[in-house]
Amino acid sequence: MPITDALLDSFRNARHVVVFTGAGVSAESGIPTFRDALTGLWERFDPAELATPDAFRRDPALVWGWYEWRRMKVLQAQPNPAHLAIAALAERVPKLTLVTQNVDDLHERAGSRDVIHLHGSLHAPRCFACARPHTLTETPEEPAEGRRLEPPRCQHCNGLVRPGVVWFGEMLPEAALQAAFDAAGACDLLLSIGTSGVVQPAASIPRVALQAGAVVVHVNPQPAGHDGRREFSLTGAAGGVLPDLLRMLGGRHGIIDGSFRP
Ligand code: APR
Repeated sequence: MPITDALLDSFRNARHVVVFTGAGVSAESGIPTFRDALTGLWERFDPAELATPDAFRRDPALVWGWYEWRRMKVLQAQPNPAHLAIAALAERVPKLTLVTQNVDDLHERAGSRDVIHLHGSLHAPRCFACARPHTLTETPEEPAEGRRLEPPRCQHCNGLVRPGVVWFGEMLPEAALQAAFDAAGACDLLLSIGTSGVVQPAASIPRVALQAGAVVVHVNPQPAGHDGRREFSLTGAAGGVLPDLLRMLGGRHGIIDGSFRP
């Protein structure tokens, strides 16, 4: 659906907005999503099969290589207009809570503060054995043979270092999850951007907001049949839809940097 006056009014009247993001918000920064077709090095691999403790036990170099490849992509990437628009939106509404499933730091680099990371971070690895944090270099090694890379060893116990992300079968960080569900239950409007909505428990966050009476707006290039009384879909890439939304909301301009002028 187009951005209607009624939808703009929902934004203008909202006292608390939750923005809930998935891999799609970073797609236009060149970070591959999980469930769109992968190309290049990793096209024959299912990310869901690499993202488990068992996969790491079975083949640590394959799993570490995959995450170091993603970390390398993130370090080379820049926030895109979607990240910038979300940071700018926070300046336009009384309260904004940003909840992400992403393990990159592009929201922070776009200027968003207090980002709730439900699935951990690529930039905070820890020991698989003793859980103590490990410091990585800013320049990941190129995985050998295009893919595999032996994980470093913990400086305390010599255990293998693992990525600081939440894998399938693992618990989400409790405080982050609680804060996300509390915000979803208390907001007037939730904007869900670039997520396939299939990985629980994060995927139920928009539903919690809807059930608590909030307006829910989905932004995704894949059309979804949400159009209803309080749940809407804006079909398109986040880097196009969100700056449009900001422009139509009016108000302050060019808040973040020279590349963003809705
Ligand atoms: N703008 C907005 N959305 C986009 C764009 C774009 N430019 N490009 C792709 N998308 C959408 C896709 O249509 C898809 O719905 O982003 C979504 C990406 O879905 P997934 O790859 O499943 O990513 P996500 O929902 O974040 O996955 C959830 O799964 O593997 C785990 O832990 C991982 O956090 C991840 C979780």
